Amino acid sequence: MAEKGAWQRLKGTSQTFYDQWVREVEKVPQVEGLSVADLRAVELAPWPRKGGKGVYVNLGGQRIADAHICEIPPGERHNPEKHMFEEIIFVIKGRGATTVWNEGEPKLTFEWQAGSLFAMPLNSWHQHFNGSGNEPARYVALTDAPLMMNRIRNVDFIFGCDYLFRDRYTYSEDYFSAPGKDYSDAILKTNFIPDLFNTPLVPSPRYRLPFRRFLLANGTLSAHMSVHPVGQYQFGHRHGAGAHIIWLKGTGYDLTWETGTKDIRRIDWRPWTMSSPPDWWYHQHFNTGKEMALKLALHFNIRVSQVGGDFLQYNTPILNEITYDDEDPQLREDFCCELAKNGVAFDMEEIYRLEREYRATREQAVGE
Ligand SMILES: [Fe+2]
Repeated sequence: MAEKGAWQRLKGTSQTFYDQWVREVEKVPQVEGLSVADLRAVELAPWPRKGGKGVYVNLGGQRIADAHICEIPPGERHNPEKHMFEEIIFVIKGRGATTVWNEGEPKLTFEWQAGSLFAMPLNSWHQHFNGSGNEPARYVALTDAPLMMNRIRNVDFIFGCDYLFRDRYTYSEDYFSAPGKDYSDAILKTNFIPDLFNTPLVPSPRYRLPFRRFLLANGTLSAHMSVHPVGQYQFGHRHGAGAHIIWLKGTGYDLTWETGTKDIRRIDWRPWTMSSPPDWWYHQHFNTGKEMALKLALHFNIRVSQVGGDFLQYNTPILNEITYDDEDPQLREDFCCELAKNGVAFDMEEIYRLEREYRATREQAVGE
């Protein structure tokens, strides 16, 4: 039964100041585990502070980042709030608007719909409105509330701090409508993406596959979107806690296991499945469907997410990957069986070649 141990240990995180706040002050249910099968179907409970309905989602047995799912009833609005933790919002159902403001500055309102992605600037006031009189509006948010709550241990400070982070947000008419700025490595710095499903992607630095990173509201939480082609899977890798994946298109499965163990857990996914690998657990993604899969990942900016890891390996992510040549051959066999069931051809030869080429260049660079 040693295999059960890894996950059991992680569940011991539920006694923190953050958890106490969720249970006793927020009084909102917590969904735990490794994944949520369908974000759009999760049953929600009344959320008195926000004024709508919701649940907290605490995946991966960590208290660094959390998610919550929220719904604004038709024709209604949430209560205004501001807080000393960051928040990225992805709208999964309906349409509406959000008003953002700093004390003493004009209010700024922008409209969103299912597929919109944006961040609430740190400690700025914001209020969400449902734009429909018939349909609920539902969103999922990633925050670093657990990290902040467990550090500060003071709810009044988290929700009542007067400091204005003008480097994050100050009134400007086009804050949520300006086109954004492109940087190298497929990075787009912006504050609002109207529709992720129709956002142009650019070739990824590694395999030239459609990809994009989004830096939002000058924060330390960010997002990226990537395409996983038919008949392909990704090498195993590990990083610090807090990354949350939402599948937008396609079907397949993930495998995840604690470093040093063979207790491999499988998570089947389809559109609207969310999962979060525990701190420093290896994980890898397998597309078994007949269509390209599209993945949205919400996470800390890369270096912050390495906090849970080995400091000496900070700048050498390649050490935290399992090469295709070194992986357990069983993983590949199982994947081929799954593809065969769906009548899909295995299509990894070109990826193996590109990966060997990439590693040869990287190893040379490290050796210099
Ligand atoms: Fe990952």
